[in-house]
Amino acid sequence: MEKRHELYAGKAKSVHATDDPDLLVLTFRDDTSAFDGERMESLARKGMVNNTFNAYIMEKLQAAGIPTHFEKRLSGTESLVKKLEMIPVECVVRNIAAGGLVKRLGVEEGKALSPPTFELFLKDDAKHDPMINESLAETFGWATPGQLAEMKSLTFQVNEVLKALFEEGDLLLVDYKLEFGLFKGQIVLGDEFSPDGCRLWDAKTREKLDKDRFRQGLGGVIEAYEEVGRRIGVRFD
Ligand code: ATP
Ligand code: TYD
Repeated sequence: MEKRHELYAGKAKSVHATDDPDLLVLTFRDDTSAFDGERMESLARKGMVNNTFNAYIMEKLQAAGIPTHFEKRLSGTESLVKKLEMIPVECVVRNIAAGGLVKRLGVEEGKALSPPTFELFLKDDAKHDPMINESLAETFGWATPGQLAEMKSLTFQVNEVLKALFEEGDLLLVDYKLEFGLFKGQIVLGDEFSPDGCRLWDAKTREKLDKDRFRQGLGGVIEAYEEVGRRIGVRFD
């Protein structure tokens, strides 16, 4: 496999073509953004930590029967993935109230949500990733009702697998965002799962061990990512 030209540079990852039209290389950079890219910083080791963390999670999900784009980790900061036609809709599940839900609805942070909630956001930085719903996604052609149903079902399956995995490390999976795409017509989990796109709290102290440390200027961001990784069995280089 040969890494070729850059196709896209996002806020945190770069995407390169390969000599196989069905495969891409994702490079996880140290760049860290918050508030729609308003705040950008480089955090040493983040690329390696997130690439390693994501590889571990994707393999667990694949083993649990969830179709993912993940093929293999190529180096500290690079992974080989299937090239997906990305669906511009982000799926968010919440087990505990935090972040945007607290701001929007004024519910108390930390309130257990039963059943867990499911929300859709349009992946569009210029519009600040607005919240959408199934009707809007269908009308504007972002995803079909069948695709949305599959994405919802897979997002909840991921919840069962990951809640249990994090529980073993004395961690609460508060909420998370997933992105899906199409590979030869099939809905497949894409992008990444790392503490950049989810909230994880220590089960006893409720200490925040995810990107909220960066958003809220709490410090120790990458140390926290490594701590949650170690607790669930990730081995960093
Ligand atoms: P955001 O941070 O809001 O997710 P971004 O575009 O800045 O947006 P990055 O993670 O920096 O995000 O960039 C990675 C890009 O690659 C994203 O646009 C993501 O949707 C896309 N992507 C992820 N996995 C795949 C895949 N398997 N095939 C094609 N594109 C992918
Ligand atoms: P949410 O609380 O809606 O937004 P914010 O983190 O901006 O307050 O996010 C819920 C979870 O989904 C949280 O763990 C962050 C993640 N997420 C992203 O990583 N990117 C996104 O564009 C969105 C909408 C959510």
